[in-house]
Amino acid sequence: MCGIIGYTGPRVAAPILVEGLRRLEYRGYDSAGISVEHNRTLSMYKRAGKIADLRSHVPPNVPGTVGIGHTRWATHGGVTDANAHPHMDASGAIAIVHNGIVENYLQLKSRLEKEGCTFRSETDSEVIAHLVASFYKGDLEAAVKETVLLIKGTYGIVAMHAAEPGRLVGARNGSPLVLGIGEGEMFLASDVTAIIAHTRQVVYLEDGEVVSFTADTYTTTNLRNQVIDKQVDHVNWELEEIEKAGYTHFMAKEIHDQPEAIRRALSGRIDHEYNTGHLGGLNLSNRELLDINRIKILAAGTSYHAGMVAGYVLETLARIPATAELASELRYRNPIVERNSLYFAVSQSGETADTLYAMREIQRKGGRVLGICNVVGSTIPRESDGGVYIHSGPEIAVASTKAFTSQLTAFYLFALIMGRMRDLSHDAGRQFVRALEAVPAQIEQILANKAPLQEMARKYSRHENFLFLGRGINYPVALEAALKLKEVSYIHAEGYSAAEIKHGPIALINEETPSFFIVTDDGLRDKVINNMKEVKARSGPVIALAVEGDKEVASIADDVYFVPPAMELMYPFLMAVPTQLFAYYCALERGCNVDQPRNLAKSVTVE
Ligand code: F6R
Repeated sequence: MCGIIGYTGPRVAAPILVEGLRRLEYRGYDSAGISVEHNRTLSMYKRAGKIADLRSHVPPNVPGTVGIGHTRWATHGGVTDANAHPHMDASGAIAIVHNGIVENYLQLKSRLEKEGCTFRSETDSEVIAHLVASFYKGDLEAAVKETVLLIKGTYGIVAMHAAEPGRLVGARNGSPLVLGIGEGEMFLASDVTAIIAHTRQVVYLEDGEVVSFTADTYTTTNLRNQVIDKQVDHVNWELEEIEKAGYTHFMAKEIHDQPEAIRRALSGRIDHEYNTGHLGGLNLSNRELLDINRIKILAAGTSYHAGMVAGYVLETLARIPATAELASELRYRNPIVERNSLYFAVSQSGETADTLYAMREIQRKGGRVLGICNVVGSTIPRESDGGVYIHSGPEIAVASTKAFTSQLTAFYLFALIMGRMRDLSHDAGRQFVRALEAVPAQIEQILANKAPLQEMARKYSRHENFLFLGRGINYPVALEAALKLKEVSYIHAEGYSAAEIKHGPIALINEETPSFFIVTDDGLRDKVINNMKEVKARSGPVIALAVEGDKEVASIADDVYFVPPAMELMYPFLMAVPTQLFAYYCALERGCNVDQPRNLAKSVTVE
């Protein structure tokens, strides 16, 4: 979604701002702009379109060493130059950028219009610039605080005033902001990727906090003007991790990152003596873990699919009822929170509004929520009651790939812990550990054999409808495969349990609608094979993902891709990776923007 960058220091600001915005491109946006102060005058450049359009619009050598920038993902008002941020007050002395939604903007706008304000855009955000101007009496920080007290909704705001050169003021409620502390320079961004080329020392703002800073000092306060002592954190992501490392797309890089990411998620977390897991951040004693009799997983999109797989694994290993639920739905149905239930909020970004609000609702009712997140210092892990970082490194492509398999890894470890505390024997624990530790190398085998998937994409990418079908633990993998294909290639794809097609979707089958079956060597294999035959009998093209050596599947399917044999519970890892590659290759065949698919945002911070 929208991205923010602010800079103050000795260097020329414009190139730093534009470069920061480029680093935020992956979040999804449709327009961008910057504003820079020089000699107590603000200049502003903004454009609908890509950062490249903005770059060519900003004249070379724009002077000024303080400024703000923004990438906008349209919510209120179309994609136009005028609606792009920053927004200024009538005098042009104040510029602001805003992430989030001002829910009461119509009311604020009509009040401001009555006072004589003329609006230049259709956005909700512009009211902020006019409000700051109306409250300004020589102190930008005070004016920003008065403004945000009037706003209903969510915001991450950065403001500057021509009369206070070198100073920026940021305020947060529901939209992340992180201050970067450099050597004689400061940054403020919605996301650390915009600033880690310059500094690793950061301060994460909390909701209700305001930061006022110049090149070498900062103060953080709350809205009652109390000073808040903030911890300075160190970000250990490497710059190379947010580069493509020789791949054409981030999605390709991140698919290939998976063996290493899974190894990292496992690292130091397996106790080989007791054949169990070790997750330091759970903040729960063994006694408390033993008392848990229900697990609920809250998430959205790909993270939800990982949660569905996790439910299956937890029930199998630990015999605890465990289900995943869409966070967006849970929040509004007055969820019943039981005393011995444990909740997980799963989110790559740690900022997804649906998941965050569902988590808060559960916590408000006294429930305990653990986070499974990737982005260190993001809101969900900070507000959760404990949890696990998956450590997969920055995920830049909008379509989530490595986060999925790393989230599975964290859940598999947790299921192992819970299983070993209950019925799972020492031996069964050992087998599970061995199978899990083998997964990265098995994925490497798949990654070394991509050509058949590319060939399949060539053959099928012109079809406009796909079904993805799996059973049991691979049913959520089918859902995830369909999501991946539709996101990056815009091919309409549906995921179903293979058993369900006879209840409706089989009506879609004809020679134009390929069915992509996931077939493993488990108790449901024969039933899935029957479903494949049903599709073939209706002239539907059949693609299969199967286990090496499965000649029967090969004899039925038009095309088959084999994965190495594994323990049944490990197939979600091994089946997900080929479907990611298939989606990627289909997107390439169709000439789609793989890393930034249309209309999508990486981190969905609005409901
Ligand atoms: C799919 C995708 C989205 C996200 C969803 C949740 O490829 O990226 O469906 O999985 O928006 O995001 P996080 O995991 O950041 O909460």
